[in-house]
Amino acid sequence: MPNDAANALNFYFSPVHPDEYDWSVLYPENKELKKVQFLDVGCGYGGLLVTLSTMFPDNLMLGLEIRVKVSDYVNDRIKALRIQYPGQYQNAAVLRTNAMKYLPNFFYKGQKTDPIVEKLYESTEEGQKVTRNNGEKYLAVYRRIAPSEIK
Ligand SMILES: C[S@@+](CC[C@H](N)C(=O)[O-])C[C@H]1O[C@@H](n2cnc3c(N)ncnc32)[C@H](O)[C@@H]1O
Repeated sequence: MPNDAANALNFYFSPVHPDEYDWSVLYPENKELKKVQFLDVGCGYGGLLVTLSTMFPDNLMLGLEIRVKVSDYVNDRIKALRIQYPGQYQNAAVLRTNAMKYLPNFFYKGQKTDPIVEKLYESTEEGQKVTRNNGEKYLAVYRRIAPSEIK
């Protein structure tokens, strides 16, 4: 179901398995059928997605946002950027969903990579808010490890 239709029903869209989702709806120019590699869980207004989209034009990225008006805003923002800059921002998209509940339904194990840590400071609305208030930032980055790596 497309985002707009899901929103109208106040419905958190979720496939039962990643294979069952038609990713071409979100990435119509993704002819090579690449998989999403960057995920912004709780993407807010999409600042990080927009920054990373042109930095990593070969990576598909997806924002997940639970608030309908906010995910609609990000959707419109990406659509407008695609029109304004033909050929760009085709690798970024947003879905309204409850990531806490449905994240595993969208992705295969080990599908994502994350070389984006530096951008967290200024590309997110939260990061910019802390800068405006002259606040300190304490970044916490986690990496999932396999049970075999635990000593
Ligand atoms: C503190 S804001 C951060 C926004 C953005 N990442 C930033 O740094 O500017 C957290 C965002 O996560 C969204 N959110 C909270 N719980 C969520 C969930 N279970 N699934 C998807 N999004 C969620 C909120 O609606 C909000 O937009």
